[in-house]
Amino acid sequence: MNRMPVILDGDPGHDDAIAWMLAAVSPELEIRAVTTVAGNKDIENVTKNALSICSLFGIDAPVARGAHGPLVAAPVTAGNFHGETGLDGAELPPPGIRLSGYSAVELMARVLEQSGEPVTIIGTGAETNLAALLLWRPELKKKIRAFYIMGGGIETGNWVPAAEFNILVDPEAADIVFSSGIPVVMAGLDVTEKALVYPEDVERIRAAGSRVSAIVAGWLDFFGKTHAAMGYKGWPLHDPCAVMALTHPELFDMRDACVRIETGGMYTRGRTLADFEAAESFNAKVLLSVDRRAFVDELVKAVRVYR
Ligand code: RIB
Ligand code: CA
Repeated sequence: MNRMPVILDGDPGHDDAIAWMLAAVSPELEIRAVTTVAGNKDIENVTKNALSICSLFGIDAPVARGAHGPLVAAPVTAGNFHGETGLDGAELPPPGIRLSGYSAVELMARVLEQSGEPVTIIGTGAETNLAALLLWRPELKKKIRAFYIMGGGIETGNWVPAAEFNILVDPEAADIVFSSGIPVVMAGLDVTEKALVYPEDVERIRAAGSRVSAIVAGWLDFFGKTHAAMGYKGWPLHDPCAVMALTHPELFDMRDACVRIETGGMYTRGRTLADFEAAESFNAKVLLSVDRRAFVDELVKAVRVYR
């Protein structure tokens, strides 16, 4: 089967890690590069986590460090939301792979130049690297098939009432991506807050009985504690929605929209606004709901790949 080339860009983070596992086990995807961006934790921390994750899941692709902070905004990190390490809840084996000598944008550009077909970029953190690539190498736009991103929320925010974290960290970058003319599939909070994993689902994952399943279940236990303390009954797996939208689009309801990013506004900066009627300006498919049970079944299937 002709596998679809993808680049994974994120700020691992528990849900980035699980998203990358889904990409790693998908027979439809070929991971050509993994790049990191500051967000959940600082760039050194997320990059160290990226090496460990790629080692753990057997992702055979170069890993490159990306943006230390947003294009113009002041840096924001999620503090200890994902714990001290950014992947609290499980001990990871030391990474068996080394960091690429290229920066994230250099590596992305090389992958696009060398690819015989357009590449899909899956972004699960702030969109700084994606925007920097477009600014630095606009001629490579034709080699990007689409952006599948976790970010935004038409109906709600999370980090602040008006905005979701990934967009809020770098609204200028998101604006560049959404107005690039390259198709965007947006897995925002509208869908990710419905992609809930409950304790019984975590036990299904743990029951797979491997080192990987124990680590993933440990991550979900930690992720769950954080969310339970916020009143959640299930834990929203944000980033895996961006990968599953590519590998299992049938699990989602999505609508074409013109999505604009608010970069001004004292209280609305980082807001993603959708116009579902402006057909002449459609730039994105917005995911609105997911078949939660099927979503969890795919998670369990993915974990079971590892012995
Ligand atoms: O708002 C959720 C997003 O912010 C997820 O991608 C999470 O990993 C953090 O990056
Ligand atoms: Ca993320």
